[in-house]
Amino acid sequence: MSAFEVRIEEPVTFVISGATGDLTRRKLIPALYTLFKEGAITEDFAVVGFARREYDNSGFCKLMAEALREHSRTPVDETSLKAFCSHLSYHRGDLSDAAAYAGLKAKFDDDTLPANRLFYLSITPDLIESAVNNLRNAGLITLPHSKPWTRVVVEKPFGRDLQSAQALNRVLLSHLDETQIYRIDHYLGKETVQNILSFRFANTIFEPVFNRTYVDNIQITAAETVGMESGRGAFYDQTGALRDMVVNHLFQLLCLVTMEPPDGLEARSIRNEKMKVLRALRLADATKHHPAVCFGQYGGDGKTKAFRGEDRVRPQSKTETFAALRMEISNWRWAGVPVYLRTGKRLAKKTTEIAVQFKVPPLSLFQHVACKGDVCDLAGVKPNTLIFRIQPDEGIFLQVSAKRPSMQLVVESVNMDFSYSGKWAKELPDAYERLLLDALRGDSTLFTRSDEVEAEWEVVAAVLAGAAEREPLIYAPGSWGPAEADRLLFTDGWRNE
Ligand SMILES: NC(=O)c1ccc[n+]([C@@H]2O[C@H](COP(=O)([O-])OP(=O)(O)OC[C@H]3O[C@@H](n4cnc5c(N)ncnc54)[C@H](OP(=O)(O)O)[C@@H]3O)[C@@H](O)[C@H]2O)c1
Repeated sequence: MSAFEVRIEEPVTFVISGATGDLTRRKLIPALYTLFKEGAITEDFAVVGFARREYDNSGFCKLMAEALREHSRTPVDETSLKAFCSHLSYHRGDLSDAAAYAGLKAKFDDDTLPANRLFYLSITPDLIESAVNNLRNAGLITLPHSKPWTRVVVEKPFGRDLQSAQALNRVLLSHLDETQIYRIDHYLGKETVQNILSFRFANTIFEPVFNRTYVDNIQITAAETVGMESGRGAFYDQTGALRDMVVNHLFQLLCLVTMEPPDGLEARSIRNEKMKVLRALRLADATKHHPAVCFGQYGGDGKTKAFRGEDRVRPQSKTETFAALRMEISNWRWAGVPVYLRTGKRLAKKTTEIAVQFKVPPLSLFQHVACKGDVCDLAGVKPNTLIFRIQPDEGIFLQVSAKRPSMQLVVESVNMDFSYSGKWAKELPDAYERLLLDALRGDSTLFTRSDEVEAEWEVVAAVLAGAAEREPLIYAPGSWGPAEADRLLFTDGWRNE
């Protein structure tokens, strides 16, 4: 049995559009190599790389071998590399050129390629329409619920706003059934994210306190220390932190941590519950002392460039590299509980976590303790906080207050923790490995449905409307973003641990 504890026996062809790009090299090919080496997929598979650059099969194989040596988490040995390469081929063509698809179709028709097909669109959204139209016109898309099957994986960003997301959905749904479309959000492939639902609904002790009576606020942070190192300046300058991170990853985390118990664990039930949260989710009102939105942009220092000085970024760019929002969920469970979202580049620490902060206990109980000369240090009494750490050091931690052994009454905050590395020695699968396996199994639970993506864009419509005029606040690299972001909070401060 493989480390994945599943093996997909169905033969399949992966057609990767955008096969010479960054995502293919860093994530997709390494994920496929691991699945192959671990025996999680059948030997009867083919990978067809589709892009414009000039390669033949052996040149493409060489390019992918280099990518694997650089990025694979699974050790690369020459024997398996050779075996893996025997499954790869390259199909040169322009995705918007109908003629480029005929050769591909012929290979399926003469049984050179396994008939089940997974088209992975690792391309920018502007190419999706012509790619899908051409797949349809070339007869490469089989009927829904039929054998052989056709599935299409679509990368983020899924549109730039509500209108473009709706247009993209119209195009996809005019040629494919919703069950054939897999809109990927790789955050959902991470172990701790999947564990949120098990943790909440497979235990009795947490769910009764997951509501407005006990929870003071929820903070969701996705902080990165990197800037534009990966050469994504042009893309990021057009996108910004809100579109890149909030309207997909952070909203999806928010949904999982606040949704009602689903009536089952299949895709439909979970997505229905997430949709209810998204319908109730809105940007909180700004008050005189507490804005609801803060946009920042990293400045430079002696060692690192300011965002405006990065390669392929406009020198006057107003694009935000930091976004913080105060949201509210207008439903019975969460009314009145602020949900703070924060994400940014060049911040103090690389971390993604959800912190559910509970209300403070009635401290007056402790204040009446007679200390008789001893110092009663009660400053350590902190609100209980439940932390889902998504990356790095995946795990779940509960902060509680406890008395330190001492003659004095000294209360400290201590952690009850469950970390994956402590409990299970084995390395966690990469999110793309998990999600590719799910797409092969036809399980769309961890992918985003059309109505979800549209609802996500609808929630930020008001923020996007004002974004062009908003001058981002410059923050120091290595900080936690602009100080102004602290003013969003009705509580003591962001959890910067
Ligand atoms: N890179 C990441 O870490 C990452 C993370 C999350 C999501 N994504 C998303 O994944 C997608 C791909 O990102 P990427 O970083 O891999 O982009 P990239 O490095 O710019 O690669 C784009 C790919 O598309 C191909 N391409 C462009 N125009 C084409 C055309 N007309 N016909 C055929 N092929 C064409 C390019 O190959 P040729 O030049 O050879 O044609 C190249 O292989 C984007 O939607 C991005 O937002 C990327």
